[in-house]
Amino acid sequence: MASSHIQEQLKELETPAVLLDATQLASNLSSMQKRADRHGVALRPHVKTHKSLEIGRRQLDLGATGITVATLDEAIVFIEGGFASITIARPMVSATKWDRLFSALESHEADVRIVADSEEGMRIAADRATAYDKEVGIFIKIDVGLHRCGLSPEDKRLLDLAIIAQEATHLDFRGILSHAGHAYAAGSSDEAANLAEQERSLMLVVRDTLLANDVPVPEVSVGATPTVLASTHFEGITEIRPGNYVFLDLLPVRAGVAQQSDIALSILGTVISKNNDYFITDTGSKTLTSDTGVHGMTGTQGFGLAYPLDHYQAADYALIVEKVSEEHGLIRRTGFDLPIGSQVRIIPVHACPVANLAREYVVLDDDQLVRWPVEAAKGSR
Ligand SMILES: Cc1ncc(COP(=O)(O)O)c(C=O)c1O
Repeated sequence: MASSHIQEQLKELETPAVLLDATQLASNLSSMQKRADRHGVALRPHVKTHKSLEIGRRQLDLGATGITVATLDEAIVFIEGGFASITIARPMVSATKWDRLFSALESHEADVRIVADSEEGMRIAADRATAYDKEVGIFIKIDVGLHRCGLSPEDKRLLDLAIIAQEATHLDFRGILSHAGHAYAAGSSDEAANLAEQERSLMLVVRDTLLANDVPVPEVSVGATPTVLASTHFEGITEIRPGNYVFLDLLPVRAGVAQQSDIALSILGTVISKNNDYFITDTGSKTLTSDTGVHGMTGTQGFGLAYPLDHYQAADYALIVEKVSEEHGLIRRTGFDLPIGSQVRIIPVHACPVANLAREYVVLDDDQLVRWPVEAAKGSR
């Protein structure tokens, strides 16, 4: 539990507030970097989880080779923040976005890499990079089971796309990239490890097919927190891109790859009313979000786990945030009472969208509260 001095400062804090435990954050950051180093793979964390320059800089200081983003807005915030190597891991197929990217690159140097999974995506990247006379790294996105973006490993268009990339004067073909987000549905660490192994073997088949056709594949990039935490080896993989590991939340805990005590992010709320069934708090869906799982998955209960501030993470005091409306959270009452005006500390189901809605993190750092802005939050295009 936080020191009594910090507890006193929390009681003075206006809520809702998104809290970050600096010690737990540091531990999550360094254990992932050590894992990458131990297995000889580059770590390029996905910063959509935290959207914070401060946390991104800490990741680089520990040894990350660069960062991954999903949106162009995230890319621009980090490019302008001085980050030198960025992968945009979502296809970018409209010319206006490419214009905005290159205009940010006029005043800030950065090695930008992007994914494509269609001829249209590959051709617009080649065309815009040539028009701006800038080199862009390019990956073909492979679908290893999530069935979101990406070509399936046996898709015949893979080779055609790689050849377009190779022949384009301003594209640097970096290789293949996948995201096994379906591993959040795993029921245990072993199951997540099996999914990681499936991903690895599919990616190596694709790599070998390209190599057999004289297409060099410098990078094989994979990454999702459950698969990376559960994997025992990464042979043939060159890079991992986990995001959620910095904070963790109830989803990787449910998937069996993390402990609840590893979670670094929580939300401080206030009991503003109560009835026979519920404590009502000021933490509704505009704070906790109404996300009950990633990629439409279910399996967690409610919208978060709430604890009275002085009993954070004490099993006997765990309460379920059973309902949310925009500005209200309804916490199911059990055996004990909470006075109106008292505070609860809530572990969210999914920390990434919570961070996206936050304007700042209130960081519990030793004996003081420090504030870090969430520079790339909200409405990120
Ligand atoms: C392409 C890609 N890579 C990496 C990640 C990071 O995954 P996680 O947050 O599960 O670690 C994501 C998450 O959505 C992603 O879409």
